[in-house]
Formats: sequence, structure tokens, C-alpha cells
Amino acid sequence: MKVLVIGSGGREHALCWALAASPLVERLYCAPGNAGIAADAECLAIDAMDFDGIVRACGEHRIDFVVVGPEGPLVAGLVDRLSAARIKAFGPRANAAALEGSKGFTKDLCAKYGIPTARYRRFTDASSAKAFARSMAPPIVVKADGLAAGKGVVIAASHAEADQAIDDILGGRFGAAGAELVVEEFLDGEEVSYFALSDGSDVLPLIAAQDHKRVGDGDTGPNTGGMGAYSPAPVFDAATERRTLDEIIRPTIKAMATEGRPFCGVLFAGLMITREGPKLIEYNVRFGDPECQVIVMRLFSDILPVLLATADGVLRHVDLRWRREAALVVVMAANGYPEQYRKGTPISGLDAAAKAGATVFHAGTMREQGALVANGGRVLNVAALGASIAEAKERAYRGVDAIRWPDGFCRRDIGWRAIARERAKP
Ligand code: AMP
Ligand code: GLY
Repeated sequence: MKVLVIGSGGREHALCWALAASPLVERLYCAPGNAGIAADAECLAIDAMDFDGIVRACGEHRIDFVVVGPEGPLVAGLVDRLSAARIKAFGPRANAAALEGSKGFTKDLCAKYGIPTARYRRFTDASSAKAFARSMAPPIVVKADGLAAGKGVVIAASHAEADQAIDDILGGRFGAAGAELVVEEFLDGEEVSYFALSDGSDVLPLIAAQDHKRVGDGDTGPNTGGMGAYSPAPVFDAATERRTLDEIIRPTIKAMATEGRPFCGVLFAGLMITREGPKLIEYNVRFGDPECQVIVMRLFSDILPVLLATADGVLRHVDLRWRREAALVVVMAANGYPEQYRKGTPISGLDAAAKAGATVFHAGTMREQGALVANGGRVLNVAALGASIAEAKERAYRGVDAIRWPDGFCRRDIGWRAIARERAKP
């Protein structure tokens, strides 16, 4: 089978790495890909939002199946477009991708179907948003409605900060994504990323992971796309998983079908594990990045039949096998990320990292006259398996320390919560 993956990040490298291992994949392509993906797939110089280019490439290369990585093309309707051209694809149609494309849509769905989430209201005008914020005790959460590359959320420590955030968002700081906003209650607890596949009716649970959103050690500094992840997530025990499936995931899949928006693809629930149980922070309609990297490392089954069964509506026939080991990934980013950073800085030592037992997934990398250089904010993902999260961490950092990239940095404490839990165990 000829498969095309859409995207160019660490998530897409992880998907290509897993797909390349499938005996069912005859040829693997990625658009646009990156320097690391080029080792597993043939990269096509087509932007993920260039739908005409993608459809054309599917014809030229006789692609049988397209796997869409990022949310941008899903929300903009790439799967609808491919389906109109009779090309099979993994990922939700635009009307179901609204679960990520509009926070207000998701909040209204939760309210209508009794899915546990933070108390909220939607606004398009600043004075009523501020009045509602004033009725709540800080911290208060203010969110741009649309896609804002993970930057559209402000946790305001005071009413004055909430006012400022409301003015910023409605004042156009996030463009059209901020024409509307959500003001919601702050949820206290530990965050978990949980993943499940759905073919529109059936649900196949995957596994949970935990991400580290802040840029600095000890979870300090500004939010990023994610600086490292691990799986399993010790806070997410079997009882919490059962509640998440019964109270959040299955009711959502059922609600989406009832609303005439069947969800087909991977549903990524950003959860807060509160004292009262799991609550939904937000949905994403794709794999997490860097969570996907640890998920594929723990997946023992061939990934292709699973993704195909999701697209074909036959998930009930699929049974997955997972490795018992833990996986952990450390993100290496360009100095200055998530603010200003330089591109084009040289990177070496990836062979040594592999020799040290790590698997390196590329994100923002490219080749310049044959040499590997940085080409983005998040640049490399150094991952490893281990008998425990502590062991996976040790191996991953051995890989990190083998890499020479003076213009990059990483957090040194990925996994700290889980490792503290492992240590506390008798
Ligand atoms: P989101 O883009 O919705 O994932 O929000 C980004 C981050 O903001 C989340 O990962 C949480 O850390 C935090 N966050 C969002 N909503 C809430 C909430 N209601 N309570 C507490 N933290 C939140
Ligand atoms: N790592 C969080 C995300 O992919 O949205």
C-alpha cells in the first residue's frame, strides 16, 4: 500500500517511523516532511495547507491512504477534500474537527450532553466578558475561540489580568481566532493527555501520556507546544481511565454522531485529574506532539491496520498490543524558543545518540549542503524506552548528551512527577 503522511513535526516523524516498519507499506511519502523523515519516507515539497497540491500528488504517486498529522488541515477540511476525490484518509472531517477548531463549540457540546468540564461562558463583546469574569474568583481562564497554536489561553491571576486578556484577544491579537472567546473556571489538579480512536461509532482506547507545556525546569516560564512527554501516566489509574471513557470519551463520540458530525480519527482529550475526578480541559482532533512519539514507541502492533480500520469504520475488529515498558521523550529546542530564535544552526552527534540507545525524531530540521541544521523552534525529540520512567529518562538524556548543538537547549527534568511517584512506591 502507498501511504502519504501530512505534516513536518516530531509527531509526523514518529508516525512515519512506525509506518515504515509496517510490512504492508509498500511506499511511504511525507508532505512536506523534514530531514529526519527523509530517512523513512520520500519527502514531497508540498505545504500541509496546499490541498490542491496534495490531491495532485495523491494522483501522481497513486496514494492509497493519507494520514493527516496536524490540526490546521483537518479543521480546514483536508479530509473532506480528499474524500471528494475518493482518496481514503485518516482524520476527522471539518465538521467533527470543530472539537479542536472552536473551543466554544466543544464547551456547548459538553453542556448539552453533560460531559464534565470547567464552568464557562462564550463572549464576543468585552464588557459582558469582563462582568462574567468579575463574578468568579481568580485564577480565571480566558481563551480565544479558534486555533491559536497553543497560545490562545491565559490563566489570569487577578481580575485586572483577566480584563487585559479579554481586551487582547477581542482586540485582534490572535486574528480571526479571537473574534470570540471563552471565559471559564480554573480547574485544579494534574494534567493528562488521553488518546482514543473512533470510527464514528466505536471507540478504541489508546494510552495516556503526560506533557510538559512550560519552557523551563520545574514547570516555569511561558507555555510551549510541549517540551517532553512520557507514558504511562501514573496519575491516570485504571479507575480514572474507566471514568474518562464512560463520562467523557464515549458520550462525546455518541454526541457527535447525534449532532450529525461523526468523529473519525484520533480524539486527544486534554484532561485535568481533579479531586472530583477527570474533567475535560479541551479536545484536539489529532495525535499530540510530543505525546505521539511516546505512544508509537510503546505500540507493539502494526500501526497501519489500526489507522485503516479507523478510516474504514471497522474498529471493532481491532485489538492492540502495547509494550509494558515506559517511554519518555525530551524535546530539544532552539535557544530563545518559544520567543525569538535563530534558524540554520548546525547539529551533529545524532549517530552517537542512537548508539547510546535513544531514538531521535526530528521536528524542525533540514539539510544545507548535506549538513543537518535547525529549521524551527522545536527541533529534535530524543526518546527511549525503559523498565521504568526513571530508566527511560536516563536513556533519553544519554542520547541528548551525545548530541552537539550549541544553539539548542532542553529541559532536564522531564518525567519529574512520575519519577517522584515511582520513588514513593514501596
Ligand atoms: P489549552 O490550549 O486549552 O490546552 O490550554 C493550554 C493550557 O492551559 C492547558 O494545557 C492547561 O495547562 C491550561 N488550562 C486551560 N484551561 C484550563 C482550566 N480551565 N483550568 C486550569 N488550567 C487550564
Ligand atoms: N503536546 C500538546 C499538543 O500536541 O497539543
